[in-house]
Amino acid sequence: MQNLNLYKCMKCNTLIQQLDESNANIECCNTKMTKIEANTFEASTEKHIPIYELSNSEIIVTIGEIEHPMEEDHYIMWVMLESNNEVTKINLKPGDLPKVRFKYIPNSTLYAYCNKHGLWKKEVK
Ligand SMILES: [Fe+2]
Repeated sequence: MQNLNLYKCMKCNTLIQQLDESNANIECCNTKMTKIEANTFEASTEKHIPIYELSNSEIIVTIGEIEHPMEEDHYIMWVMLESNNEVTKINLKPGDLPKVRFKYIPNSTLYAYCNKHGLWKKEVK
């Protein structure tokens, strides 16, 4: 299992990714940034957890068992696939489908980031 080190400023909403495992004290707006933990369970009808299906050497990834909205004020900003030695990020914008393709890498992790509801993840077997 990988560990995506994302931090958010709760004052200005800046989101950053730390690329190493050091214990840096990361600040923004004179405040310590908050580490963002990925959600893996949801109870609401709105769905964020990525689902995938294998297609030859690729995975076809959809955000949400029920497709997540892709509206101006509420959408999936990006989807990321992280493995032990590789990270691939696909940016999305309002109006796009919440659907992307990645090379299939067993034992990798999918992440999706909603501008309103934060970070979600799913392990790829
Ligand atoms: Fe959302």
